Amino acid sequence: MIKETIQKAFNEQIKKELDSAYLYLSMAAYFDSQNLEGMSHWMKVQAKEEFKHAMKFYEHINERGGRVELFGLEKPVKEWKDPFEVFKHVYEHEQKVTASINNLVELAERENDRAAYVFLQWFVNEQIEEEANASKIVQTFEKIKDSPVGIIMMDRELAKRE
Ligand code: FEO
Repeated sequence: MIKETIQKAFNEQIKKELDSAYLYLSMAAYFDSQNLEGMSHWMKVQAKEEFKHAMKFYEHINERGGRVELFGLEKPVKEWKDPFEVFKHVYEHEQKVTASINNLVELAERENDRAAYVFLQWFVNEQIEEEANASKIVQTFEKIKDSPVGIIMMDRELAKRE
């Protein structure tokens, strides 16, 4: 049976993962409004990933005899200055998610919850990848600045995400 403290923290993490999905969907809508379909595609894939993350927490709570509780989602930002600002936002956001996962790992250790600790290792590794992906895109944007050709090239590149 899952402890109340872990259940509460995991339910809060479900909300954070769904907030992330919602934020990335808002970014997709921004890119669609700018006719940057490749970037929009990247964000839609990212939003789906976040939904999967939320579901992992959902299933873990269920499998351990806990009770999933859903909260209201944050209204995401709608506008950004340019695509570079959007991806900087993604990188900052993922750093916050990493901090949140690390807090959960500390909680699992404090509560001596081995199952939660092992479960969270997947997220520790996933966050390395999430931050690296966003950071790589930010670094490329730093090189192209606001070159229109560079933006189009980036849009084509990001359309390839599976
Ligand atoms: Fe679920 Fe992007 O972290």
